[in-house]
Amino acid sequence: PYKQRLLVVANRLPVSAVRMGDDNWKLNISAGGLVSSLLGLKGFEVKWIGWAGVSVTDEVGQKSLTKSLAKERCIPVFLDEETIDQYYNGYCNKILWPMLHYLGLPQEDRLSTTQSTQSQFDMYKKANRMFADVVNKHYQQGDIVWCHDYHLMFLPQVLKEFNTQMTVGWFLHTPFPSSEIHRTLPTRSELLRSVLAADIVGFHTYDYARHFVSACTKILGLEGTPEGVEDQGKLTRVATFPIGIDASRFIRALDLPEVQEYITDFRERFAGRKLILGVDRLDMIKGIPQKLLAFEKFLEENPDWCSKVVLLQIAVPTRTDVPEYQKLKSKVHEIVGRVNGRFGTLTSVPIHHLDRSLDFHALCGLYALTDVALVTSLRDGMNLVSYEFVACQALKKGVLILSEFAGAAQSLGAGAILVNPWNIPEVASAISYALNMPSEEREKRHQLNFMHVTTHTAQEWAKMFVSELDETVVEAQLRA
Ligand code: UDP
Ligand code: G6P
Repeated sequence: PYKQRLLVVANRLPVSAVRMGDDNWKLNISAGGLVSSLLGLKGFEVKWIGWAGVSVTDEVGQKSLTKSLAKERCIPVFLDEETIDQYYNGYCNKILWPMLHYLGLPQEDRLSTTQSTQSQFDMYKKANRMFADVVNKHYQQGDIVWCHDYHLMFLPQVLKEFNTQMTVGWFLHTPFPSSEIHRTLPTRSELLRSVLAADIVGFHTYDYARHFVSACTKILGLEGTPEGVEDQGKLTRVATFPIGIDASRFIRALDLPEVQEYITDFRERFAGRKLILGVDRLDMIKGIPQKLLAFEKFLEENPDWCSKVVLLQIAVPTRTDVPEYQKLKSKVHEIVGRVNGRFGTLTSVPIHHLDRSLDFHALCGLYALTDVALVTSLRDGMNLVSYEFVACQALKKGVLILSEFAGAAQSLGAGAILVNPWNIPEVASAISYALNMPSEEREKRHQLNFMHVTTHTAQEWAKMFVSELDETVVEAQLRA
């Protein structure tokens, strides 16, 4: 049967490469929600275009990596060290990422960053053109080009300049902040205009879409309509597509012997203690310090629980060349040390903190065994960890404590305990409430969330986006 060809363009490929020899590469699954959800796409013929996470400058390396990646349906964009530094570490992760998540830089940093911003933005545009070149090389008529995330805001415009007939969608995996925040960016107009070159622009929640439209009306003076943004009769469709996970992949995994082994092993290790789980990239937006302080407060107020509960925090290393991320790591270690020093005993400590990633089977095992999942993001586009936890809890029916600032709060709000992560006493009492929750209430809450997670999947998300994109293009042709 015919399958629609999709060129998925994202900065991060689903696999990241590690060089083992001149022409020998090891490919590891990349971390993060964008990759997890897009790996769940079915029903399309997908080709990925993106960066493999390494700088490769020699021809032997580039050729052999291209060949290895082809087996995974991936096509590499080669970025040199300087581009990675200015575009990825600099413009993407020091400027755009904090801005999109309402995290201002300290005044002084902001001032010095402002000075280097122009060259970083130039490099950002240059990098986007490098992605466009690879897209153009592999594009076939009839393909849908689906651009992803804040790294590639310039891409829709470059692609359309090259070929006005190309069908181009753009989806943002992060929040889009209030236009008052976006307004502070020196590059505010250029970024909005280039995104608007796409046929359709998608967001996780209605609020993010609304913020984007109001940025376009207030900053560019364009007209916002219920359909999207209009510029001299040309409509860019703006719509909401909440992402999901491939729920059946997690549910099926629970029956695998590898996962069952992990579950048996973890059960022994954590015997006699309730397990609270945190799984986050070690990122400022995840509110990890706030989570640890709330747990400390809980222990302070409930000394009886000290030897009966453990907080297992998996902190997946990310963007480790960016100084803010290095500072965050020290901060987190300091708090973990303090809390364990205060509340630990000769044989146990209350916080088990790991700076590492987990393989899929271990992660599923942990999700299944957890009593309480604790998500305290200060801002988060969606947060798929909360979805994955719910998918794995059919037996245990554990409790999800979820930040109201995660996109997921709008879909899992009925079953989760929603908290403001800045309110430490509130989170501490949510922990206590969750640990003591009667099983009937747990079941009811779990059922609501489970229903949502298993029906609003990554497959559905992609299908909706693509069909809306198709419709938009047809309508535009009719109007022309
Ligand atoms: N994850 C991972 N490696 C790990 C632990 C988790 O790749 O060691 C995955 C996790 O399964 C989830 C994703 O990383 O799919 C995190 O997505 P989320 O939307 O919660 O946050 P993001 O990292 O995209 O900000
Ligand atoms: C978030 C972003 C993704 C990114 C991921 C991991 O989910 O929305 O675009 O891929 O974090 O971050 P990294 O910088 O390692 O790609």
